[in-house]
This record gives sequence, structure tokens and C-alpha cells, in this order.
Amino acid sequence: MRKHEGYYISEPTRERAYLVGVHIRGSSPLLSVEESLDELEMLAETADMVVIGRTSQVLNQIDVKTFIGSGKLDEILEIALAEDVQTVIFDDELSPRHQRELEKRFGDQVKVIDRSTLILDIFAQHARTKEGALQIELAQYEYRLPRLTRQWTHLARQAGGGGSRSGNAGVGLRGPGETQLEVDKREISRKITKLKADIEQVRRHRERYRHQRVKDKVAVISLVGYTNAGKSTLFRALTGADVYTADQLFATLDPTTRKLTLPSGRQVVVTDTVGFIQKLPTTLIIAFHATLEEISEADVILHVVDLSHPHVQQHYETVEDTLAELDVPYIPKILVGNKSDKLSSEDATQIIDELSLDEDYKARVAVSALKNDNLAKLLTAVETILLGLSERITLLIPYNRGDITALLHQEAIIISQTPTEDGTVLELYLSNDLYQKFVSYRVGENT
Ligand code: GTP
Repeated sequence: MRKHEGYYISEPTRERAYLVGVHIRGSSPLLSVEESLDELEMLAETADMVVIGRTSQVLNQIDVKTFIGSGKLDEILEIALAEDVQTVIFDDELSPRHQRELEKRFGDQVKVIDRSTLILDIFAQHARTKEGALQIELAQYEYRLPRLTRQWTHLARQAGGGGSRSGNAGVGLRGPGETQLEVDKREISRKITKLKADIEQVRRHRERYRHQRVKDKVAVISLVGYTNAGKSTLFRALTGADVYTADQLFATLDPTTRKLTLPSGRQVVVTDTVGFIQKLPTTLIIAFHATLEEISEADVILHVVDLSHPHVQQHYETVEDTLAELDVPYIPKILVGNKSDKLSSEDATQIIDELSLDEDYKARVAVSALKNDNLAKLLTAVETILLGLSERITLLIPYNRGDITALLHQEAIIISQTPTEDGTVLELYLSNDLYQKFVSYRVGENT
């Protein structure tokens, strides 16, 4: 409650969460427990929860029944009750047995979920394509089926469930609601079969549009990146309100595909994708990959990283590893170092230059999607790749060769033009043909 000009107005209450992590003695995970819990906290916040605390325990091995030690459990329960915590989130995947046992201990007041359930919930909230949404619904059913317990149905009923994606349902309960959770296994299997058929149908539909795009030769630019890197912000900054209306049906099916006009006037299509995360539970990989299927169709991939994040190299590698798992064929890539406004320009340049890149990368560009900084340069880099142009070069064209200057204006991408004593200095990108023809006029630092 917040007092406002003498009245109390109620604010929407956010679900209060408490985080639990475990370190197994002798193991050397990618992230420390604290780092992993930092990430879990970020995920919980993405799911609109308030994290009120965390704890971790070092163990020789996971307890087969209760996951963590009994004493620790009592401690967590005590804090949860005292602090009005609705949800305890375990950073690791809980087996159906752990889930049942923990629910028994925690009773009806405190819900227990794990990282996978949280991520599935975020996927469900953020699924941006029809196919992605169906895949995630399927994954939710498949994940919950063996874990169906009294707690779910009880809480779902409290929350009003009913198969809706209601934001009130609480984390872990969005998606398939009460009625689905209460039906018998046969009923759920039937639902799973139906979802699979729907996915197939959407896939075929998408396939038809892909073919259409190939026929029309519309180039596709795909945005990928670690969660929170700023993909959606960049997507909006690049495409503005330029909704892909030419094909309404496609636009409704996939709200994350928009049209973009490059500096030369050429139109391309940009698609946004769901954020990548480390420790993606294996059960979710198929659903996640399905949402990324379109990447294979891209002509250029923009890999967005948050330059201001201390683990930027690790994030970069997670995304690269995932792309490798997806078996994406060779596609030229551009590294987009985002959030440069949070750093000095020297630091931004140094960080982006120090990232060790795979050879598919054709350019690195530091930008600020939020402040619209350097986006023109990014678009020029995209154009350069699409047109198969040379790198940016400088030519000095004597004044008596006005014909060449005129030709270049028609056929090249001119960045700047400066008259000098000796002739016109042009900074520009050239196609390979033109490059061969005019390379003898090249001057300056690029020579
Ligand atoms: P997921 O949906 O989790 O994959 O995230 P995303 O990569 O789409 O990131 P999103 O665009 O939602 O941005 C994440 C946060 O970073 C938001 O709070 C943005 O406002 C912020 N952000 C994005 N770009 C910039 C930037 O250039 N500078 C700064 N300072 N903040 C940015």
C-alpha cells in the first residue's frame, strides 16, 4: 500500500521469492554458486518476482529425497514463513521425487519450484512466435506430467487456473491451468498429441512463407544474444514502427519479424529471438531450439552482447556454443557490442576488440540501442555483407575524372566526400568488381 494524497492505493503485489543454491564438493561448474544465483535472481525478476533472499549449501552429494540437508530445509522454511515468501526457487533441476518430498515438507503455504520451471514460465510469458508458444506449452506439459502433485492443483485452483495464461496464476503456474492439471494422464497425453499436430501445422505454414521469401529474395537479418543483452531494444530501435504489414498473416503469426530499410534503400526483414541462458536445463533444449529454428534461414546474424556486463566473454561463448549445437550452416555474423553508453568510448572499443571471435564474424560495431548511437554504422555493415562489398576504403579521384566520381555515386555506398587540392576524397564501400577497377586510386591509412 502506498499513500497518495491522503488515500491508500494498493499496488499490484509481486510474488516474493527465496533462492536456494548448492555446490557439490569437488565439482567445478562454469559459474560459482553465487554467480549462478545472481543469474537465477535476474530470471526471477524477469518473471516479475521480488527476491527477498538467498542461501546456499556445500554438499558431498545431492540428497536423494530432500535435495539439500534437513537442517537447511528447516532453516529455509522458517525464513519463508517469517518473510512471507510464496515461492522457494531451487537453482538446480529437482527430480519428481525431490519435488514431491519438498512439497510435503513445505506444505501448502510455500510453493517449491526449480530453475527449469521458472525458465519455462519465462518462455511462456515471452514466447513470441506461435510455434514457440506451442513448443513451450508442450514442454510445460511434459515437464509437469511426472511432477503432478496435490500442490499444483491446489494452488492452481486458488489462482483461478482454468487453462489461461493469466498473470495472476503465479510463477510456475502460468500456461496450462487447473483443468488440464487435474485431468488424468490419458487426457494430458491427448493434449500433447494435439499440440504436436498443431506445431507441425504452424511449421508447414512457416515453411510456405520461407519459400515465398526466398522467391522474393528478401534478405533476413536475425538478432541473437544472451538474455538481457538488449536485443528487443535494438530490434525496436532499428525497425521503429515499421511493422511487417506486407503480409498480415505472417506478421500475426510472428510479431517479432519486421521490415527494415537499409541505407541504400533496400528492404530486408529483421527477426528477434528469445534470449540465451547458461545452464539451460536439458529438458528445455528442444523447446528452445524450436524457437531458434528460423536462424538457419538468416542471411546475416547480429550477435548482440552487453559490453557493460562483467561476463561478456562467457555470454558470447554460450551463444556461440548454442548456435553450434543448432547446426546452423555458415552465415556471416556481426558482433554488436551494445550498451556502449554505460562505458567510456575507449573502454567500449577495448572490450569489443578483446572478445575473441569466431571467424564467421565480419565486423564488430559498438552501439547503444537505448541512445540510438552508431546504428547507422551497424546498418552499413549489414549492407556491406549483403552486397558482398569490400571493407571501407578511401579513394582519391582527380578532378579530371568526374566520370568516376559520378559512377561511384551510382554504384557504391559513399560514407563521406571531401574536396581537396588533389581531387575528391571518397570514403566508401565497393563491390568486388568496382574494387578491382579502382583500387589504384586508394589512399590513406587503408592503403
Ligand atoms: P531478453 O528478452 O531477456 O532476451 O532480453 P533482451 O536481450 O531482449 O534485452 P532488452 O532489450 O529487454 O534489454 C534488457 C535491458 O537492458 C533493458 O532494461 C533495456 O532498457 C536495457 N538496455 C538495452 N539496450 C541498452 C543500451 O544500449 N544501453 C543501456 N544503458 N541499457 C540498455
